[in-house]
Amino acid sequence: MTHILSHTEAGVLTLTFNRVARKNSITGAMYDTLATALEKAADDNAVRTVLIQGDPTIFSAGNDIADFMAAAAAPAQQTEADSPAIRFLRVIAAFPKPLVASVCGPAVGIGTTLLFHCDLVYAGDNAAFSLPFVNLGLVPEAASSMLVPQMFGYHRAAEALLLGEPFMAEAALEVGLVNRVVPPMECNGIAQSQARKLAAKPLTALVETKRLLKLSQQAAVQERIGVEGKSFATAMRSPAAKEAFTAFMEKRKPDFSNV
Ligand code: COA
Repeated sequence: MTHILSHTEAGVLTLTFNRVARKNSITGAMYDTLATALEKAADDNAVRTVLIQGDPTIFSAGNDIADFMAAAAAPAQQTEADSPAIRFLRVIAAFPKPLVASVCGPAVGIGTTLLFHCDLVYAGDNAAFSLPFVNLGLVPEAASSMLVPQMFGYHRAAEALLLGEPFMAEAALEVGLVNRVVPPMECNGIAQSQARKLAAKPLTALVETKRLLKLSQQAAVQERIGVEGKSFATAMRSPAAKEAFTAFMEKRKPDFSNV
């Protein structure tokens, strides 16, 4: 079964997380599929806007934890550049056409950080965003250590990234992470209709406007993705991460008293 559904209509490429039984957690293969789809969409005249969506009950539980464990066990000399997640992040952060997201239910880790690289974000009133990197012995990714304080202000960013507790759609609306909060069953449809509005506009003007909007931070974002990627690769092999991943698999609370 394909875990990323892809469909183009009316100038909108819709990419749908389709791994609901695993809460749409994202594997290396899924990152590669997403990155390749975006790379192709950037050059495809039939695609003018991209919509990323999940299910009305779950956007994404973030990185697949079993994949994290496998990556942590891989040879240490593998660099962040080898990681499919980093490839996806570099591609989405540089994607030139408008990106719309529809988020319902939990959006964990990269399920939240990828939204910082989308242009319009619509959320169901059941959306629960979280950045639980510290709780997993990890560090921020997707340039979120730069973009979250920029958007939320430092103290709210520190709360989100150090405590890692979920915050709901209304709070996300207040800090500017989402454009509108809507009923979950309507969210994908509303996001689709906004994406189609964008797709009907002159593409050259859209692309140039997005380039100008991002001009002052594009290079810094790519640089931060690299810096965070190196810290992340180290953190993934730490005793704290090992304990957090093992605890998740064993369905118990992690014990960080020795790390
Ligand atoms: N990686 C791998 N498997 C995952 C997963 C993940 N990130 N998230 C959920 N799953 C699996 C669960 O292990 C469970 O498998 P099982 O049916 O074999 O027991 C199944 O998906 C359902 O998840 P469950 O936790 O029972 O669903 P829930 O509705 O109670 O909670 C979440 C949903 C998203 C809140 C919860 O699954 C969660 O917190 N997941 C981990 C998120 C995380 O830490 N991601 C990494 C971010 S960097």
